[in-house]
Amino acid sequence: MNLTRILTMHLIGALLSAGAMAQQPVYLDASQPIEKRVEDALSRMTLEEKVKLTTAQSKFSSHGVPRLGIPELWMSDGPHGVRAEIEWNSWAYAGWTNDSCTAFPALTCLAASFNPALSYAYGKAIGAEARYRRKDVLLGPGVNIYRTPVNGRNFEYMGEDPLVVARLVVPYIKGVQENGVAACVKHFALNNQEEWRGHINVHVSDRALYEIYLPAFKAAVEEAKVWSVMGAYNQFRGEHCCHNDLLLNKILKHDWKFDGVVITDWGGAHDTRQAALNGLDIEMGSYTNGLTSEAEFGYDDYFLAKPFLKLLNEGELPVSVIDDKARRILRLIFRTAMMPGRPWGRFVNEEHSDVARRVAEEGIVLLKNDNRLLPVVPGRYRRIAVIGENASRSLTVGGGSSELKVKYEVSPLEGIRAMYGASAVVYSKGYSSGPSAYGRVIEPGEDQALLRAEAVKVAAGADIVFFIGGLNKNHHQDCEGGDRLTYNLPFDQDVLIAELLKVNKKVIVVLASGNAVAMPWVGEVPAIVQSWYLGSESGNALANVLSGRVNPSGKLPFTFPVRLEDNAAHYFGTPSYPGDSIDQYYKEDILVGYR
Ligand code: GLC
Repeated sequence: MNLTRILTMHLIGALLSAGAMAQQPVYLDASQPIEKRVEDALSRMTLEEKVKLTTAQSKFSSHGVPRLGIPELWMSDGPHGVRAEIEWNSWAYAGWTNDSCTAFPALTCLAASFNPALSYAYGKAIGAEARYRRKDVLLGPGVNIYRTPVNGRNFEYMGEDPLVVARLVVPYIKGVQENGVAACVKHFALNNQEEWRGHINVHVSDRALYEIYLPAFKAAVEEAKVWSVMGAYNQFRGEHCCHNDLLLNKILKHDWKFDGVVITDWGGAHDTRQAALNGLDIEMGSYTNGLTSEAEFGYDDYFLAKPFLKLLNEGELPVSVIDDKARRILRLIFRTAMMPGRPWGRFVNEEHSDVARRVAEEGIVLLKNDNRLLPVVPGRYRRIAVIGENASRSLTVGGGSSELKVKYEVSPLEGIRAMYGASAVVYSKGYSSGPSAYGRVIEPGEDQALLRAEAVKVAAGADIVFFIGGLNKNHHQDCEGGDRLTYNLPFDQDVLIAELLKVNKKVIVVLASGNAVAMPWVGEVPAIVQSWYLGSESGNALANVLSGRVNPSGKLPFTFPVRLEDNAAHYFGTPSYPGDSIDQYYKEDILVGYR
């Protein structure tokens, strides 16, 4: 075939493909600026299609525009790992066999690392796992300020200091979003307890609002350019936060120039007009409690579904209201599901395990170490007792929406046995807490006195004792949907620690928790380590710190008051915490935590 013929054929091919390109609509052309794609897509959509974008179609997905080839948005919890797949229209798990993830440490641990670079690595890794699991929105991080030590969800958040939280949340969000996955910073705002979370009406001064409760969200929007924000369940000054004019229209969208999407917490919408006019963009989980309950209402009954369309068709609401929502949602879709050159993500690999372990190691806090009892160098002691349920219990299960189905989880006991040699380690549970369940406590079936007696015997025969206790992910512990009922350690652990000290002076107390606890034994126990929910690499990280392989460098991201009444939120009594079941007044104002 001569050269002319070849050139002619290439020329025809080029013209044909150019022609095809010329017909390709702008919104599908990845080379076009995102705002041009948004406007082009919007111009092609019907009113019904625009309204559809603003509501869920299933438990964890919202509508796309099938006719135009604009994909749905798929969302998943949570802040420290990609939650197992949930069924289309129930809270049950779907039972997939390819969704066991890497559990990264809970965010209190990341906060304790005070390490922004590590926070970026964390976001990058968890975002890659969300991308691999084909999620467009990762429902986290949570940055609600730690106001009271009994808030059931403090473990998911990043402590009491607005500056620490702001400095660490920004790199986390950037890391997540580099995967073409939106972070969804939550819960905006003033969701600082679980008691009456669905309706409690928070009253707080402007000063405390702007100096304590908003800075982390502001940094997420203005510095990290977060693509979505989750409205909180509670009310603020009489309006639900998921459609609150001051928070969403004036502060978030006007003052902070947020160009992303406001998504309700699951069941956080309560009124069509308010949802339409007060800054909400996507309504999820309506008529449910965000954890377990179902409702006979269908997705078409959502506040921003048929009732919203009706008001628009009757001219009760201007089309500009729906166009702003649709633009934001389209922008989110073009940033994620339709992102040009979107990465493919990665799931459960050595690199992610390495990040999880480094966050865990850098977050562990050494609180006390008399006579340099720590580090316990391997080989120094022949008989090591490990006492406590948290040494062997999974702490990635339970806790509410942030619970995970993990590929693996090295327990503290496994890590300690690997570090010191199984033959040198004797384990005794010491106490039992029963299985975790949402919204209810399942009493343990075991005899606590018997468990305690066995543990004391093991401790008496050991050269040194690692007590591994703390809280756990049961209801009324570190768990969504309820607050703790006491500031003390649960399950008679204080009694057990006192008994252990009677038979062995070398007791090292390791607390796994996401909250402060009372320490009546603080004078007698020679060494205390604040551990956290450390995720898949728990045992490896803890053993590395206890043995001295890694120097503990974590710092507390929240205060441990000696007594609960020393905490400012509790000092002012029930109107301040938990409120009177209708209203709540943050009487401590800016004096949160160490302040
Ligand atoms: C829950 C939580 C929220 C979570 C959402 C979806 O109720 O409050 O943090 O992302 O609903 O599970």
